[in-house]
Amino acid sequence: MTNRSGSQRFFSGTQIREDFLRFFEGKVSDATGQGHRRVHSSSLVPVNDPTLLFTNAGMNQFKDVFLGNEKRDYTRAVSSQKCVRAGGKHNDLENVGFTRRHHTFFEMLGNFSFGDYFKKDAIAYAWELLTSNHDHCFGIDPARLYVTIFEGDAKVPRDDEAERFWIEIGVPKERIFGMGAKDNFWQMGDTGPCGPCSEIFYDMGMGAAEEAGVDMPFPQDEQRYVEVWNLVFMQFDRSSDGTLTPLPKPSIDTGMGLERIAAVLQGVLSNFETDLFTPLIARAEELTGHKVEPEHAVDERSRASLRIIADHARAATFLISDGVLPANEGRGYVLRKILRRGIRHGRLLGQEKPFMYQMVFAVRDEMQTAYPELKESAERASKVVLAEEEQFARVMDGASRRFNDLIIETKKDVLIPILSTAPYKGFLYHQYELSIANLHADPIAAFKLEQDKVALNDRDAINLLYDVALKASENPTNLISISRNIDGAKAFSIFETYGLPFDFMVDAARDAMMYIDLVGFDAAKEVEQQRARASWKGGSQKSAAPVYRELPKTEFEGYSTLRVDGAKVLALVKDGVGVPELKGGETGEVVLDTTSFYADSGGQVGDVGWLYSGDHNLVVAEVSGATKPVQGVFAHKVRANQTIAAGDMVDTVVDAATRAATIRNHTGTHLLHAALREVLGKHVKQAGSLNDAARLRFDFSHFTGVAEEELREVEEIVNRQVMGNTKVETLVDVPIDVAVNELGAMALFGEKYGEKVRVVKIGDFSTELCGGIHTGATGEIGVIKVVGEGSVSSGVRRVEAVSGTGALDEFRRDFDVAKVVGAFVGSGVGSSSEGVTPAEALRARIAAQEEEMKKLRRELDTVRMKAASSSLSDAGASAVEMKGVKVLAQRVDGVEKAQMRELVDSLRIKLGSGVVVLGAADSAAGKVSLIVGVTKDLTARVQAGKIVGLLAAQVGGKGGGRPDLAEAGGSDVGSLDAALKGAAEVVGGLLG
Ligand code: ALA
Repeated sequence: MTNRSGSQRFFSGTQIREDFLRFFEGKVSDATGQGHRRVHSSSLVPVNDPTLLFTNAGMNQFKDVFLGNEKRDYTRAVSSQKCVRAGGKHNDLENVGFTRRHHTFFEMLGNFSFGDYFKKDAIAYAWELLTSNHDHCFGIDPARLYVTIFEGDAKVPRDDEAERFWIEIGVPKERIFGMGAKDNFWQMGDTGPCGPCSEIFYDMGMGAAEEAGVDMPFPQDEQRYVEVWNLVFMQFDRSSDGTLTPLPKPSIDTGMGLERIAAVLQGVLSNFETDLFTPLIARAEELTGHKVEPEHAVDERSRASLRIIADHARAATFLISDGVLPANEGRGYVLRKILRRGIRHGRLLGQEKPFMYQMVFAVRDEMQTAYPELKESAERASKVVLAEEEQFARVMDGASRRFNDLIIETKKDVLIPILSTAPYKGFLYHQYELSIANLHADPIAAFKLEQDKVALNDRDAINLLYDVALKASENPTNLISISRNIDGAKAFSIFETYGLPFDFMVDAARDAMMYIDLVGFDAAKEVEQQRARASWKGGSQKSAAPVYRELPKTEFEGYSTLRVDGAKVLALVKDGVGVPELKGGETGEVVLDTTSFYADSGGQVGDVGWLYSGDHNLVVAEVSGATKPVQGVFAHKVRANQTIAAGDMVDTVVDAATRAATIRNHTGTHLLHAALREVLGKHVKQAGSLNDAARLRFDFSHFTGVAEEELREVEEIVNRQVMGNTKVETLVDVPIDVAVNELGAMALFGEKYGEKVRVVKIGDFSTELCGGIHTGATGEIGVIKVVGEGSVSSGVRRVEAVSGTGALDEFRRDFDVAKVVGAFVGSGVGSSSEGVTPAEALRARIAAQEEEMKKLRRELDTVRMKAASSSLSDAGASAVEMKGVKVLAQRVDGVEKAQMRELVDSLRIKLGSGVVVLGAADSAAGKVSLIVGVTKDLTARVQAGKIVGLLAAQVGGKGGGRPDLAEAGGSDVGSLDAALKGAAEVVGGLLG
C-alpha cells in the first residue's frame, strides 16, 4: 500500500509504536552514555494524584520527576502511554464518533528529558523521526508539515528560541506560526508542571478539507491541518493561584497521538480507518448485526455509532483492567457514562441485548501484544461490562417509566387551569367527548369533573384531553394556548439520577408532542457539574513539604537487618518545616542517610523502634513509624528523649517483635490473595491491603459475599501452605515485562512500578510484585485465622485475618470462652459428647431456657390476674356512685395491657351498669397505663374516650378510643393514685 507520505511501506499501528520507541532508545545522551529508557505505560488511574481523574498524557507518571520531588536513575525516557480524556480538564467524550480524531482512550507516544536535553534537541529529534527515511523513521514529506510556537503573553515571552531552532533544522520561516496560550502553552491541569509548546501539523490535503473544494491556508482548516505532535518545553510549576514557579531544571515532554500518526502514515482521513480501529468496527458490526455500506451517506449515523462502540470498548476495557468499576461518582461514573453511551449506540443499531462485553475480547485480541496485562484482565473486564449492560437494561425500564410520569404530570399541570376556566371547560369536554365517541372508548368515568375542580386520574384521559386541547389551540379563534414545555430541571434530574440517555428523552418527548426546556436542562446540568467538580477537588493532595525535595534518597538496609549503626541525621522536620534540632520531649520527623526502618508502603506499615545515640548507650528518640513523603526519602516519626541535631550519628533499632508480627501478616496476605483466586476465581485482584502487627486486611474485587464454606476452604489452603513451610524468595531488579509476562507476577491496581521490579515468590503458589518485607519461609507465620469478611464498596470485598501470636491470642480467647461454655453445659472443654460441640450444647441450653422463661412468664401473668380479680371481687362495694352512675377506679400494677382489657370486661359484667377505670404503673420504666370501660347503656351519657383523655392529662399522657372502651398511656407515675381517686369526679363532671 502506498501511504500518504509517498513511501511504499505499510506502517501498522503496532509498527509505528515500536518504531517510535526504538528511535528514541537510540538517541543517546553524551553526558550519561544512555539512550532514552523505555518506560512501561503507567496505569490509567493516576497514582497518588487526586488532581487528576485519569492519566491523560505521557508525562503524568513523571510529574514528580519534573517537579524535582522524585529522582530516577535515568534522565531521558520514551513511552507509549495509555490515556483517557473523558471528564476532567481534557474531556473529549461528547465529540467521539462524530469527528475523525476524537477518542476517549488513546495512546500517547512521548519522549521525555528530565533536565537533560532541551528545546534544540527535542526539535531536532522530532524533525528527524518524522521526515527522515532512516530506520524507525516515518519519511513524511516536509512540504506537508507546519509548526507553531508560543507567541507570548503577559507572563511568558515569545518563544523566539524555538523558532530559531526550527529554522536551523530547515523549516521555512513562513511555515512557522505564532499562537496564543490556548494552543501553545501546555499544562497538565489547573496545577502542576507546564510550559510553552511547539506543535507539528500535517496537511491531510484537499480531500480532508472542511468544506469540499475550498482551499484554505494553514491554520484555517482544522479538518485538513492535523496536529500530530506536541513538544512541550516544561519550565514552570503552576500553583492553584496561577503563579508560575520555574522548575528546578528545564525539561522536555512530548506527545504524539498514535491513532493520528497512524492515519497520516496509512494514508487515511480518519483515525477510525486505521488498522487500530477497523477490526474493532468490523466486530461491532457483527455483534450488533448492523453492517453499513462504506459509501452510503444515509448510514452516516450508524457509522458514527459503530465508531463510538469501537472507541468506548477500548476505553472501558483498559479502565476496568486498571481497576476502575462502574459507579455513580468519580472515575467509576465516567466509566459508566462511557459504557452506557456504547450500549445506547448498540441499541440505536438495533441490538437490545448485551454485546459490549464481547467487544472486550476484540480489544484484547488487538492490543495484548503492546499491553500484555489484557491477557489476564479481559475475562474480568468482560464480566464487569456484562453486569453493567444487564443493569442498564433495568435502568432503562425504570427511567423511561419515570420520564413518562413526568410527561403526564406536565400535561396535567397544563390542563388543570384550562379546564377550570368555564368557557374552555365546556368546550374542551365537548370536544373530548366527541373524541371519545370517535374512539368508541369510555375512560370518561376515570376522571371526575366537579364544579370548579378537575381531578384527572387516568393516563389515557390525560393524553387524549391534552391532544384535544393541543388541536383546539391550533385554531386561533379558540384562544387557547397550550404549553408544550417539559420542565428542564426535572428532566435533567431523571437524566442524571436514572441515567436515561438524553436522546431517548428527546424522542419520548417528541412522541408526546412536547419539548424538553433545554435552557432549564442546561442550567441544572451546569449546577450539577459545578457540584461534581467541587467534590472532586475535595480530595486535594497536600504536596510534600519542600524540605524533603532537597534530600538525597535514604539507603534502606531493612530487608536484611533490623539495626544500622552510625546513620547520619540529615534533616529534622517539625510541623512540615525543617529545623536544626529537636529537643527532648518534642515530636517531629528525622531523615537519615541510611536506615533499617521500613516506611509505609504497599500496605505494610512502617516499623517502630528506637534511635540510639552514637555511643550505642542511650535511646535518643522513640520511633512510632516511618513514611516516604517523597519517593525514596524515609521520614522517621519520633518523640525525642534528648536533643537530636542535624549531623548527629545514631543507631537505628527496629522493634523486632513488632516487625516479625507485621511481616507474618504481610506474607499471610500474599497467601490469602493466591488462595482467594484459587477458590473464588481469577477475577480476584487486590484492591487494597493493610498489614500491621495486629492483623491483616485484604480488599479485593469480587461481586458477591464470600460464603462460609469458601472462607473455610481459603483458610485451609493458606494454612496448608504455612505448614508446608515453603521458602519465600525475593527476586530483585527484574524487568517489569519479565515479571508480569514470564513469571506471571500479579501487579496491583494503581501501583506505580519502575522498569525494574522486586518480585516475591512463594513456591509455585504465589508470585507478586512487592517491595515489602516477608518471612523467610511460610512456616514462620505459625497459623492464619480468618476473622471477618464483608463488603467495602460495590464489587469490592474485604477479608480480615490474624496470624502468629495474633492468632494465638485469638485462639486463647476462644478457648477461654469454650472453657466457660463447657463448664456451663457440662461437657469437657473442646470435647464433644455424642457429637455435640459445646457451642451447640450452649445454643440448645439457651433455647431451652428461653422456652422455660416464656412458660414462667405466662404463669406469672395468670397469677397476677387472679390476684387482681380477687382484690376486685367485691367490685360492687368498691364502686362509688356519681349522679346515679357506679364508678369503679382501681390500681392494678403488674397486670399487662391485654389482661387489663379482660379485667375491664369482667368488671363491667359484674357492675351490670357503670364505669370501670383501671390504672397500672411501672415505676422502673416510668410508664402509666390507663384503661376505661363504660357499659353500653351509659355510652350515650358518658364516653370512655373522653374520660380517659381527662385522666391521661393528669399523668402526663394522651389517649382515646371508643365510647365503651378507651386506653391511654402516661409517664407521671407519681400522679396515678390521685388521678384514680379523682376518676369519679371526672365522670361526674362529664355527666353534667
Ligand atoms: N503533555 C503534552 C500533551 O499532552 C505533550 O499534549
